[in-house]
Amino acid sequence: MRLVEATDSDKRARDLLTASAWGKQLTTEQFLQREAGLRAHPFAQQHMRTWLWVDAARVACSCETFEVPARRGSRVGRAFVIASVFTEPSLRGRGHAVGLINAVCARLAEQGEALAVVLFSEVGARIYERAGFVAQPSWDVMLPLETSVLPLVTSGVKQSLGVEAPPVGAMDGAVQLELTVEQCDWQVERERLYASALNRPEVKAHLLRHERSSLCVAASFQTNELHVLWYRFDKPADVGPLLAAAGDHGRASGLTSLRLWETTPIPLPAGAVRVPRNDELPMLRALDGGAATWSFIERGSWA
Ligand SMILES: CC(C)(COP(=O)(O)OP(=O)(O)OC[C@H]1O[C@@H](n2cnc3c(N)ncnc32)[C@H](O)[C@@H]1OP(=O)(O)O)[C@@H](O)C(=O)NCCC(=O)NCCS
Repeated sequence: MRLVEATDSDKRARDLLTASAWGKQLTTEQFLQREAGLRAHPFAQQHMRTWLWVDAARVACSCETFEVPARRGSRVGRAFVIASVFTEPSLRGRGHAVGLINAVCARLAEQGEALAVVLFSEVGARIYERAGFVAQPSWDVMLPLETSVLPLVTSGVKQSLGVEAPPVGAMDGAVQLELTVEQCDWQVERERLYASALNRPEVKAHLLRHERSSLCVAASFQTNELHVLWYRFDKPADVGPLLAAAGDHGRASGLTSLRLWETTPIPLPAGAVRVPRNDELPMLRALDGGAATWSFIERGSWA
């Protein structure tokens, strides 16, 4: 088996196969448009690569990688997010996914300043542990929007349609991925593509501020959730108005809950629950010889 980087026509051929896994609410044509739209975005154009695991005859498995800025303590470098690992159904259970991931990690490790490879598993930890990844503890705050009892007062919250990158968070000895404005907008591009395909109203504000606190959101029409891509809460009193204002926008777009990946503990608003994440499980494999720890795991980094 060997590792090959996909051409544009390889990518379209993979899209036709992966539609069964990731295009559930879309027609095949809509899924192809979604993939083409996401790839055309400046973030993907600059940072996304598609990899194939092939033998002489055929492609057994494929995945994508996204290069993002990262740091470990004061050391600045880059990290790679692996996404969309897919093995042809008739070839599953033969180690192709693990083989591809190991080969991709070896290739990426050759790049200077490579700190880590991360992924968000939809199939549990076991398969990726075999490729050297370590699961990271992760908690979500879930707030139902239909029955929400958040404060009605959202005055003082400033809102804008466009996104911004978050200010850099506090450093520790773990790997941290840095969100850029392009990557945040790429998340919103997914919202726009689904809104258009499913005829749903886009969210009217993606960046909300209250005094020195802020958060950035995007709709997931696949799950009917409003996702907090990142947040920086300066003081506990800002949490209620910001989540309430975000929740209002989510409701207006027909979303039923707000999901916040907890990076720093927040006071739980009335009606919200904190749940361990069991899907999109964050996992990391270090490339720099350091510990396999990842902190400040933000939804905006998901791919
Ligand atoms: C997940 C997937 C990529 C695995 O590909 P593969 O080439 O069969 O993987 P490997 O042979 O290297 O490893 C097989 C292991 O994967 C794990 N695995 C595969 N599918 C799984 C699933 N749906 N849930 C949990 N674990 C799963 C198992 O641990 C299995 O080993 P085991 O049978 O000994 O327990 C493949 O099943 C697939 O394409 N699924 C659809 C798309 C998908 O869900 N991708 C993962 C996104 S994170």
